[in-house]
Amino acid sequence: MKAIRGATTVEQDTPQEIRSAVGELLTQICRQNRLSEEEILCILFSNTADIRSLYPAKAAREAGFTHPALYSSAEPDIEGALPHCLRVLIFAETQEPVRHVYLRGAANLRKDLKKYSVALDGPAGSGKSTVAKLLAAAHNILYLDTGAMYRACALKAMKERVSKIEEKTVLPLMQSLDLRIEYRDGKQHTILDGEDVSETIRRPEVSMAASEISALKCVREKMVEMQRRIASEQSCVLDGRDIGSFVLPQAEFKFYITARSDVRARRRYDELKAKGFDVDLAQLQREIEQRDENDSKRTFAPLRRAEDAVLVDTSEMTIDEVLSYIEKKIQEKV
Ligand code: DC
Repeated sequence: MKAIRGATTVEQDTPQEIRSAVGELLTQICRQNRLSEEEILCILFSNTADIRSLYPAKAAREAGFTHPALYSSAEPDIEGALPHCLRVLIFAETQEPVRHVYLRGAANLRKDLKKYSVALDGPAGSGKSTVAKLLAAAHNILYLDTGAMYRACALKAMKERVSKIEEKTVLPLMQSLDLRIEYRDGKQHTILDGEDVSETIRRPEVSMAASEISALKCVREKMVEMQRRIASEQSCVLDGRDIGSFVLPQAEFKFYITARSDVRARRRYDELKAKGFDVDLAQLQREIEQRDENDSKRTFAPLRRAEDAVLVDTSEMTIDEVLSYIEKKIQEKV
């Protein structure tokens, strides 16, 4: 059993505001801790003495949290306390590491838990996804592989046998897209139409189609909206092409990771070979260069180093060297 802490604030002491703040806080705690209501044993609320119009426990029940035992109490009237504050302590059955959640005005109570995003952009094969995974694990935060999302869109178009990848053929697919990003044992799973496609989307033919489809505005708008929502809910490392320049221009830490195209082709070759794919090195290099060209020449949110992103050329660096360089840069900034 684990204990999860959270807090939020309301502007005014009204039942509507309390209902909305409590609903938001509990939903965020469940989402960030990947908890279902059934896994919660009890929710204990306390609120500052200036809240009188509704018990937070009642608001939680009204928000649909009927399974766990609920309890509310009022805190003493303490001078200097953050006004209109609702605190919660949740006991839940979970094996996952705990994430405490502080929202709205209460975010300042726990500056050490402040949410942050690390943007890692760069061309294919630069090593950014390996670095992103290790970095996220070291910080115990989420890793979002945004390339997987574009790959899933490409796979959808391939499955639907779209004649030509263009706005008018792809837009209807985007409007009805059933794409979910889930995490199991800390690993990202890409679920398309209810099926786990995490492995299929790595196929070389999907890579080329992903580069092509990711140039479309209707695709990028949909994916960027999902990425921003995920990043707004928790600290995370995101890797992609336009994270620092477009998706999260306000990201706290930004890096642009690159390497020479021959080095990148060799890395992809080794990776694909190890997975049993029959690939040709020269062909891979041509494809990587073609993808670089597609990704950086497209008009909408192209691959580009954000002005404030730290440039890391990994051609002659090991993963460990890249990781410690990035970690050093992060520590210098905090
Ligand atoms: O990183 P990757 O190779 O899995 O990405 C697949 C394609 O998706 C890549 O060619 C460009 C595109 N992409 C993008 O346009 N923007 C992102 N944030 C991530 C990937």
